[in-house]
Amino acid sequence: MKVVLVFQPKNTLHLETMSIEKKVRKICCIGAGYVGGPTCSIIAYKCPEIQVMVTDVSQERINQWNSDKLPIYEPDLDDIVKECRGRNLFFSIDVEQAIKEANLILISVNTPTKTYGMGKGRAADLKYIELAARTIARVSDQSKIVVEKSTVPVKAAESIINILKANVKPGIRHQVLSNPEFLSEGTAIRDLLNPDRVLIGGEQSPDGQEAIAALSDVYGHWVKKEKIITMNTWSSELSKLSANAFLAQRISSINAISAICEATGADVTEVAHAVGTDTRIGSKFLQAGIGFGGSCFVKDVLNLTYLCESLNLPEVAAYWQQIIDMNEYQKRRFADQIVKCMFNTVSNKKIAILGFSFKKNTGDTRESPAIYVCKYLLEEGAKLQIYDPKVNHDQIMWELMKPEISENPERVKELVEICDSPYHAIEGTHALAVCTEWDEFKELDYKTIYNKMLKPPFIFDGRLILDHKMLQEIGFHVETIGKRLSRPPVCRPYANSVQ
Ligand code: UDX
Ligand code: ADP
Repeated sequence: MKVVLVFQPKNTLHLETMSIEKKVRKICCIGAGYVGGPTCSIIAYKCPEIQVMVTDVSQERINQWNSDKLPIYEPDLDDIVKECRGRNLFFSIDVEQAIKEANLILISVNTPTKTYGMGKGRAADLKYIELAARTIARVSDQSKIVVEKSTVPVKAAESIINILKANVKPGIRHQVLSNPEFLSEGTAIRDLLNPDRVLIGGEQSPDGQEAIAALSDVYGHWVKKEKIITMNTWSSELSKLSANAFLAQRISSINAISAICEATGADVTEVAHAVGTDTRIGSKFLQAGIGFGGSCFVKDVLNLTYLCESLNLPEVAAYWQQIIDMNEYQKRRFADQIVKCMFNTVSNKKIAILGFSFKKNTGDTRESPAIYVCKYLLEEGAKLQIYDPKVNHDQIMWELMKPEISENPERVKELVEICDSPYHAIEGTHALAVCTEWDEFKELDYKTIYNKMLKPPFIFDGRLILDHKMLQEIGFHVETIGKRLSRPPVCRPYANSVQ
């Protein structure tokens, strides 16, 4: 939408509002993170005639996007960026200029859980979204399509609309769309290239429908029409929260079953397989483990419980809260299992932690269950030797020294060593614990590892990825989630359970 000065026959100056441009020519993305970076790279890759400018407040982040070492690790992302960067994909710190030039703006800023005030620990903090909306209102000389891409609470679009309406220059009418991102880290490029669906929510008005059509055209370059679902804004926002809550709920469900398996002698892998072969249930997201992490699941489920409480739906809030409680229980249970098996004390014992990212194929540590396993073991006085193939050393220390994780950061420095290889990490340890399912952990030379560890050597497989039989034959004492391994027990963590 453009404001034009139209000279009327009687020479009177008249302000006229023009509708948004129907075709997307230039995109500005606000926020060059895990969502904005990969999403815009794929848009640029698939739509060579659209210029895509990805912006961020962090100069360092932008420098990294413009370098050979991208700020995030994501399989196949490097190749896509190399192909498009400088052609129709650009990274810049100049947010305002990029907003001015674009006719479509993607808001992909972070929306962490609030750490203060009302809704502390549960509601999403929308301060970055608000700032982005205010900047758009302040610098835009034309009407734009503003797309909410970050995962946000239901009705966040309304806040953006209100901020835009209250601050825009005369004659300008932006359209706000909700277009939640469903990519999964580690498979972002695959997910973006071949999404299950693209969701676009917008105002149910002719202008709103025009904006939806313009964004649909962008995706139409590579996504089949049937997969582009349009709906009202609030449905779109709630769909994203619900999808993540359903996925998290499946993981908490199978983790709850894993506890029953350990107590009864059932095998969680067999149960998951049997349950998952029911086509109504399906086999995905039934992998038991040490709990879910990542930037979305914990935040979105907490967000949903907060929404329910705000809507005076306490029973519904309690239902979703239980998904989080089960996840906490599972992380704690794994750490407890380590302590109990190691003769009820890990004080001053060295334990190797293999994997620190929240899942394989990413360097992201947000809400990683490994953080909490380390926290509980550190509280017991264990010395940790941590290795992860993709997470920076500083990042690991930063996570463990956060005030909510450790009351005594100096003690963390004393007890934690970050290692460059798994073999370095297991040197002189009593136990090793697999906290992330990196493929390389399956291929390690466990005979060498056995020789380098103190005896008896314990392996705690928190992700059910190792060959337990082979490890037992080498001589390890192996513990895992959701199954009892047949062996003469050095100890039984669940001694009073049903045999
Ligand atoms: C998730 C959603 O999948 C994605 O659609 C949304 O856009 C963002 O949030 P992500 O957090 O990147 O994606 O990874 P995901 O693969 O969903 O895994 C999340 C966590 O659940 C990880 O810690 C993973 O290890 C754990 N998980 C996943 C399990 O413990 N078991 C499973 O069966 C699947
Ligand atoms: P996500 O996983 O949602 O992509 P990230 O934290 O990886 O979250 O990325 C969000 C990015 O948004 C960060 O790099 C942050 O610096 C950036 N950001 C936050 N607020 C603004 C803003 N007002 N303008 C530009 N970039 C912003």
